[in-house]
Formats: sequence, structure tokens, C-alpha cells
Amino acid sequence: MKKDLLTLRDLNADDCEALFKRSFELKERHASGIADRTFQGKTLGLIFDKPSTRTRVSFEAAMAQLGGTSLFLNAQDTQLIRNEPIDDTGRVLSRYLDGVVVRTYSQNLLEELAAAASIPVINGLTDLYHPCQVLSDLMTILEKRGKLKGLKIVWVGDGNNVAHSWLNAAAILPLDLVVACPEGYQPDETILAAAVKDTKGRIVVLSDPEEAVRDADVIYTDVWASMGHESEHGLRKKIFKPYQVSQGLLAMAKQDVMVMHCLPAHRGEEIAADVLVGAHSVVWDQAENKLHMHKAILERFISH
Ligand code: CP
Ligand code: NVA
Repeated sequence: MKKDLLTLRDLNADDCEALFKRSFELKERHASGIADRTFQGKTLGLIFDKPSTRTRVSFEAAMAQLGGTSLFLNAQDTQLIRNEPIDDTGRVLSRYLDGVVVRTYSQNLLEELAAAASIPVINGLTDLYHPCQVLSDLMTILEKRGKLKGLKIVWVGDGNNVAHSWLNAAAILPLDLVVACPEGYQPDETILAAAVKDTKGRIVVLSDPEEAVRDADVIYTDVWASMGHESEHGLRKKIFKPYQVSQGLLAMAKQDVMVMHCLPAHRGEEIAADVLVGAHSVVWDQAENKLHMHKAILERFISH
């Protein structure tokens, strides 16, 4: 039976371990110039209803480097825009493609598509989750630190889709995760409660960013206004100001703290420009690792 990756709760700890191991192997093979042809004759669809640089390009490059073809579809150019039902779309695409990566607003819509499709559906970001991002981020932490357990990972900023995927990750892996968000911008209560119930690590939600980053090994931030929330940008800039990842905030963390951001970044808002390009930042390696992790995800979910 086909498997989908709609949230990180579709995976368990063993699945994550296998993905990490394979992503490192694929990274090494790529560096050695080995051309795998795993997906020869296979076609991956990408239906995107929101902008993307990294997710789109890394999935397309991954498919090309593994010998397959990808087909990018701006959702606005499909019959979805003229109200063709999502389940009809899922059924039809399943007759052409071997898998599909979807970036859209509604998690429910993604789930409806996956229920109707007979091919694997991979979440390339919704309003609620960004699972492939957090898998690449975990790979980056492992690459830099050799472990996940025992590291204090602190999310600073909006309790958004990426934060939700971090909570899901902490539900399936023994992470020490602290989330610091302003009142009213904390993560979804149901997602948080499920993660707290299932974690074998520690999940703490605070509102004080300075208290949160004390002794942090990793500080992670993301935009204050995610795609779809652009109209709140002005208001959010005022509310989130104390949550900027600045040199001052970094000074309260461990000396070798790693700074992460899924990108795109807004310099001078959620992250100071000198922190984004400074010695603690791993954001470019983080972006690169999306390529290697996405290959591992494709191998695991798409038949070949
Ligand atoms: N981090 C990330 O998902 O970037 P894009 O929006 O450019 O895909
Ligand atoms: N939280 C951001 C992530 C972008 C990759 C957004 O949804 O816009």
C-alpha cells in the first residue's frame, strides 16, 4: 500500500533514523560524483499553491540527480482554480505520476488529495506543518553535533507550521525542545498536547525568549508572518520585536550555540543580519541538506 508523508506523525523513530542514515549516504555519493539512477522512467509532480525557492528546487534537483523527471504545476494554472474537486485531481494525477509533492494552505485539502490518490503524497508545506523541512534540519543538527539527544533546541518566534513540525518531531524522537512565542502566537494547543503526551524527551512552552535560550545548543527562528499572513506583518513586527535573534540573545545561550532558520529570512526582523551570516549560523548548510534529505524521502516513499 502506498504511504504518504503528510505530517511527521506519519513516521516513527526508526523511520527517522533510516532517513538520516540514507541522507548522509546520499550526500556522500553526490559529493563523490556517483550518479544514481533510482528513478529512471519515474515522474514526480509538484503542485504548489504558495511560492517556494528551496523546497521546489531541491525536490526537482533531487529527482533529476536520481535519474527521474519532475513536473512543476502552479496550482493556479490547473483546473483546481476552477473548482475541480481535489479528489478528482488526486485520482487523475495518480494515472500519470509516481508521486506528488504538494505545497498549499489547507492541511485538510492535502489530506483529501492523499485519500483519493493512489500515489504517495508528500507535504511540501501547509499552514499547519512543514515536515520535510524539519527532517532536513534534524539531519543538519546530527551532521554538526553527532547527536540529537541531550541538546537543548529552542524555537524563538511564531508558533507556526515549522514550529508544529518541531513539536511533532519531539513527539517521535527524544528531543529537548523549548518553544518561546508571544502570547496569542503560541503553537496550536491540540498539536502541542499530543506532542507533550507522546514525547520521551522534554517539551516546554514559554513566552520569555531570554529565559528560553539560556544554555541553548540550537536557536531556531522563522519569519514572523508566514505566507498567508502578510496583511498582519505590521502588527506582528511590533509584537515580535523582543523575539529577534540578535547577538544579545545569542550571548545568553551556550558559547557554541548553532543558529538555524529555514529561510527565507528577513534581516532586522526575526534575525539580525550579523547573526544570519555570523559564525554561529548554519543556515546555508541547512538549506543544502534539503537536497539530500529530499532524495532520502523520495527513495522511501516513491516506488522504484
Ligand atoms: N525553507 C523553505 O521551505 O523554503 P522555500 O519556501 O523557498 O521552499
Ligand atoms: N513559516 C514559513 C515557512 C517558509 C518556508 C511560511 O509558512 O511562510
